[in-house]
Amino acid sequence: MNLLVTGGCGFIGTNFIRYLLNKSDFSGRIINVDQLTYAGNPENLTDIEKTFSNRYTFIQADICDKKKMTAIFDDHDIDTVCHFAAESHVDRSIVSPDNFIKTNIMGTFALLEIAKNRKNRLTRFHHISTDEVYGSLGKDGYFVETTPYQPSSPYSASKASSDHLVRAYHTTYNLPVTLSNCSNNYGPYQFPEKLIPLMILNAVEGNPLPVYGDGKNIRDWLYVDDHCNAIWEIIQHGKDGQTYNVGGDCELENIKLVEMICDAIDNRIKSSDGKSRELITFVKDRPGHDQRYAIDATKIKTELDWTPKTSIETGLKQTVKWYLDHMEWVNHVRSGEYQSWIKKQYK
Ligand code: NAD
Ligand code: DAU
Repeated sequence: MNLLVTGGCGFIGTNFIRYLLNKSDFSGRIINVDQLTYAGNPENLTDIEKTFSNRYTFIQADICDKKKMTAIFDDHDIDTVCHFAAESHVDRSIVSPDNFIKTNIMGTFALLEIAKNRKNRLTRFHHISTDEVYGSLGKDGYFVETTPYQPSSPYSASKASSDHLVRAYHTTYNLPVTLSNCSNNYGPYQFPEKLIPLMILNAVEGNPLPVYGDGKNIRDWLYVDDHCNAIWEIIQHGKDGQTYNVGGDCELENIKLVEMICDAIDNRIKSSDGKSRELITFVKDRPGHDQRYAIDATKIKTELDWTPKTSIETGLKQTVKWYLDHMEWVNHVRSGEYQSWIKKQYK
């Protein structure tokens, strides 16, 4: 397998590459293409580059650059695509949506066009998407694969658009696509603008923990390795044209999750004095904030025998430990463009 991974220097892409190359039943090559936006950090994979020098290649490129991407497909004889590259942060899409439209829609379109032109070589185009395309749930019900799309933010609208394009390329051109729509991931290497790492680091540093609105919004949390495992199963055994919902069976109100993080920090760090919960601060709500996400993952469980294996207690413990052990990484990724974002957020 000559596998093109897009966005492999981001959170999930990094974990996926690490997961796959360390798996004994994967013998292929990975070509990781990443533009290295603020969210991409090639140092996540420095050790992989050394250990797997004959099976791992990194190329800095913009997926929207059709000429460069065509050359990459040709030079590396790409037969499988796993497409992560995207602008991924909802709050940023509310402040400045332009790059979301460009990368998430036009970038996916560029990749699909290239894939279509070499359809005979391509065995799988897997598109990573989100449960946010389905919009917001009330108290009851779950997202299934046939739930109508009703995206709320520029981010989710751009992902919905890319999903439609991917499906259209299957229906119209018979491209062997699969899609997965996943709930909130957490784990190592997540950029510290997202809820879990942001709260861990603010608690460690004694800064306020900004909870949007009343903190009663619900997300369904999935440990990133479980997501990587689901993606790999779909790439190998998924059916062409099919969508698979992936979730953690782990619905939590934001406030409850933040309290769990506070307790995990208090258990590990003496300097917090057991008082992390006192840092919780309710702040202005996110515009268009979806109330509840919850995934029904019956399809992938029954058809591909996948199930999430990591409990939130275990996953959170591992994640807290990872961030505490990697403060150099944290300071590095927070040092660049992130500073101007923070200033804009809290001005
Ligand atoms: P991330 O923001 O951590 O990483 C995105 C990566 O894409 C970065 O390395 C960035 O440099 C790269 N990138 C951005 N624009 C690019 C471009 N034009 N060309 C090439 N590379 C580019 O995101 P993530 O959290 O790892 O999410 C990965 C994918 O999974 C996204 O498609 C996202 O929509 C989806 N997803 C994420 C979650 C989650 O909880 N994080 C859940 C469901 C789905
Ligand atoms: O559901 C999948 C989606 O999960 C992915 O498609 C997105 O790429 C990913 O970013 C994530 O989106 P969310 O908006 O759910 O994640 P975020 O970490 O930004 O926020 C999680 C919840 O916490 C959400 O209800 C908003 C809230 N929140 C977030 C931040 C950053 C706060 O209360 N305070 C905060 O400071």
